[in-house]
Amino acid sequence: MPVLGIAAMILLPLLSGEGEKHVSRRPAAVLIVTVIAVSLGVFTHLGTYTPWSPIMNAWTSDPIPVSYLRNRTPLEREGALVLQNKQCRNCHSIGGEGGLRGPALDAVAGHMTEDQIIRQVLQGGGNMPAYGNALNPSETTALVKFLTTLRGNDLQPAIDASRHLALTTEHKLPSSVP
Ligand code: HEC
Repeated sequence: MPVLGIAAMILLPLLSGEGEKHVSRRPAAVLIVTVIAVSLGVFTHLGTYTPWSPIMNAWTSDPIPVSYLRNRTPLEREGALVLQNKQCRNCHSIGGEGGLRGPALDAVAGHMTEDQIIRQVLQGGGNMPAYGNALNPSETTALVKFLTTLRGNDLQPAIDASRHLALTTEHKLPSSVP
């Protein structure tokens, strides 16, 4: 049936040659065809990597790049294991591999402070589940320590403005106090 239907539509202008055929005088037809073509193209492209959907085996199949494990302390490496085992990779990519449901974590410590990362992990939010009940304190510490090393390997760490101020004023106090 689809083949016959499409063939009929292709033959239609040949069989019935009356009516307006010029493209510029048939905006509705041009618009319909354009919308259909663009939608098919966009959805076909999105369907090849489904960014809205977690990749359920990324935590077992996508390894953390070796460069992100080099020069890390044992605690930070433990955190890398927590990241895999808690299946964070299903939604978060590192080194271009993993889910795209959440933002890539390669440079997360370049724009989030340790406190902000802890809050995001424990409370979730913005379509991320809360992990407060799924992580014990030592797992959380290791995980966050590892995440704070992810700065794309060369970005400056994000600075907590209030802590920075507290540290510098504390530092200056002895000289300013008589
Ligand atoms: C179901 C998918 C999902 C899982 C699983 C998941 N996250 Fe997320 N995560 C998200 C989404 C979506 C966001 C974006 C939240 C927002 O926009 O506010 C996010 C945001 C984040 C952020 C902030 C990143 C940034 O650049 O703003 C961090 C850090 C983070 N997640 C860590 C984790 C960790 C650690 C785990 C595992 C314990 C985890 N996530 C598991 C979906 C997920």
